[in-house]
Amino acid sequence: MKALVLAGGTGTRLRPITHTSAKQLVPVANKPVLFYGLEAIAAAGIIDVGIVVGDTADEIVAAVGDGSRFGLKVSYIPQSKPLGLAHCVLISRDFLGEDDFIMYLGDNFVVGGVEDSVREFRAARPDAHLMLTRVPEPRSFGVAELSDSGQVLGLEEKPAHPKSDLALVGVYLFSPAIHEAVAAITPSWRGELEITDAVQWLIDAGRDVRSTVISGYWKDTGNVTDMLEVNRLVLETTEPRCDGLVDERSDLIGRVLVEEGAEVRNSRVMGPTVIGAGTRVTNSYVGPFTSLAEDCVVEDSEVEFSIVLRGASISGVRRIEASLIGRHVQVTSAPEVPHAHRLVLGDHSRAQISS
Ligand code: G1P
Repeated sequence: MKALVLAGGTGTRLRPITHTSAKQLVPVANKPVLFYGLEAIAAAGIIDVGIVVGDTADEIVAAVGDGSRFGLKVSYIPQSKPLGLAHCVLISRDFLGEDDFIMYLGDNFVVGGVEDSVREFRAARPDAHLMLTRVPEPRSFGVAELSDSGQVLGLEEKPAHPKSDLALVGVYLFSPAIHEAVAAITPSWRGELEITDAVQWLIDAGRDVRSTVISGYWKDTGNVTDMLEVNRLVLETTEPRCDGLVDERSDLIGRVLVEEGAEVRNSRVMGPTVIGAGTRVTNSYVGPFTSLAEDCVVEDSEVEFSIVLRGASISGVRRIEASLIGRHVQVTSAPEVPHAHRLVLGDHSRAQISS
């Protein structure tokens, strides 16, 4: 069995973070979301991985390399334009050959991995096995309609009137029958070859299409609340460790991971929290549920339930919470007089000011 990981697409959702970085590299607990997918694939015993890349190919290749550190053998498959998920299968025909494969969207996060679904698929060998999850806003997803016995009756891509709240999670298991389907369909209204249409084609052809409904699922929809929540969930499983420097005036409480070269001085850090490599925390209170990425500075400040990305600095600011702070952002305190907020915010930024 092989894996096809989709890491093309630029991330057009309105969130400042993906303006400058591939959406598959958005960090969850200081690790790119794509890496969790690759680890889940390796844990399911799959080694041969093809990664479909687009405009952000350089960034993805720099992050993943040959895959050896995940125990994988990675090859890259360039896609000239984002023409749809079924198009990705089409251009990967040589790589996939006659093998079964798992198709994994690199910006999706499945809590609990995919081992169970892969095992189920390997045992039953249907033509397609879908993973589904209940969502509050099914119109943003592919939506499945199931019979009472759990058989997949039909699928619709981003329907205006969804027939259920069961969204297609971005992880699919296929037999080579999918190749016939992706060759048979035509582009959708959004000009893409939809994998949803290809699976519907299999259903219409009377092929065996099964599904599993899972609970923990997250995808980068630009919703900061969801992102903080998935970050919190993953931090809960962090193993406490200190590879950096913590002085005797500091306290680390609970699950705190201090990465190499990080420094904590005269500060209190409440777990679960990760302090990234090379980050300096001084005279501050950090956590719980906080990820500070690499090379950040937090001084004379309080940061709680937040994600702070690489190279950001927070200085002299009391009480930052439920926040997502981008790369190389500087947050500082304003002079006492005049009582004014001074902001330099990039496109699509959002600021909430409490006075
Ligand atoms: C794609 C699929 C959709 C699925 C979603 C999951 O949507 O077309 O069926 O529910 O991934 O991530 P897209 O991200 O292309 O809008």
